[in-house]
Amino acid sequence: AMDPELLQKLAQHMEHHPPKMEEFQGVLLPESTCQIWDQIHNFQAREDDILIATYPKAGTTWMQEIVDLIMLNGDVERSMRAPCFIKVPFLELNPKPMPMQSGVEAADALESPRLLKTHFPVDLVPPSFWEKNVKIIYVARNAKDCLVSYYFFQKMNKGLPDPGTWDEYFSSFLAGKVTWGDWFDHVIGWWKAKDHHKILYIFYEDMIEDPRREILKVMKFLGKDFPEDVVQKILQHTSFKSMKNNPVVNFSCLPESVFDQSVTSFMRKGTVGDWKNHFLDSQNLIFDEEYKKKMAGSGLDFRTEL
Ligand code: A3P
Repeated sequence: AMDPELLQKLAQHMEHHPPKMEEFQGVLLPESTCQIWDQIHNFQAREDDILIATYPKAGTTWMQEIVDLIMLNGDVERSMRAPCFIKVPFLELNPKPMPMQSGVEAADALESPRLLKTHFPVDLVPPSFWEKNVKIIYVARNAKDCLVSYYFFQKMNKGLPDPGTWDEYFSSFLAGKVTWGDWFDHVIGWWKAKDHHKILYIFYEDMIEDPRREILKVMKFLGKDFPEDVVQKILQHTSFKSMKNNPVVNFSCLPESVFDQSVTSFMRKGTVGDWKNHFLDSQNLIFDEEYKKKMAGSGLDFRTEL
């Protein structure tokens, strides 16, 4: 649990400081992140770090928990040591002026091997990750479900701007004017980067279709091999149902002033194709047209239903 006094301060701070975003090298980022850009850019990665990179809402938390358990050889008890956002520092997080560590400071204080998280497009990743040849796992999720998930997330996450109406958000997302930038640039940039770096590119839809198969891929990438009972333990512990009820990963320890889960829970649906419940037919046409243009020649193929 978090310190109640700190939570109180956090709540007061959030109330008086609505989140601000800033365009940085063509990407919309939290202003607080831009303010510590040098600290982030000069971050010292270590050879045995593991970086989980995603566009927001692609299944970051899910992958974090899978990788944490793999690194712990399936020790569920140790995986419960702290909330996921403490276990896995968020590289570009700047909680200042709250008396909390930035993502970089939290990572610096961690013992190796470290698990780290970023939502940066590939071009903004601190250079030391490439210099140290760090293993990176990128999780990609189809744009339509990402959009829906992000819309609901921005409604409940007080650290991000209010998404506005569904119509407004639809346009902002398609124009790439949302925090952490354009979905298309993000998934394509990382897809290309995997030709030159140690990047395992995983699709959320594949994880939903056959989580065991995808967990085995991650294990192999990390040089791990477990007997089937350990794999089954990881599988069970990282199912949507388990994670929804697990305080380590469901963010229930955060106060309403930070994540208002009365609006929508963090573990909201966990499915492929929820966009069909939200996209208007007219929006779907517009989206498909833009999508075809922007993805042409990328070599990337996403499923929007299973
Ligand atoms: P929905 O809003 O569509 O439900 P991130 O961790 O990158 O913020 O992604 C959050 C999304 O991943 C949410 O999507 C959440 O429900 C989903 N998710 C989290 N854990 C999951 C799991 N174990 N299985 C399937 N989906 C999961």
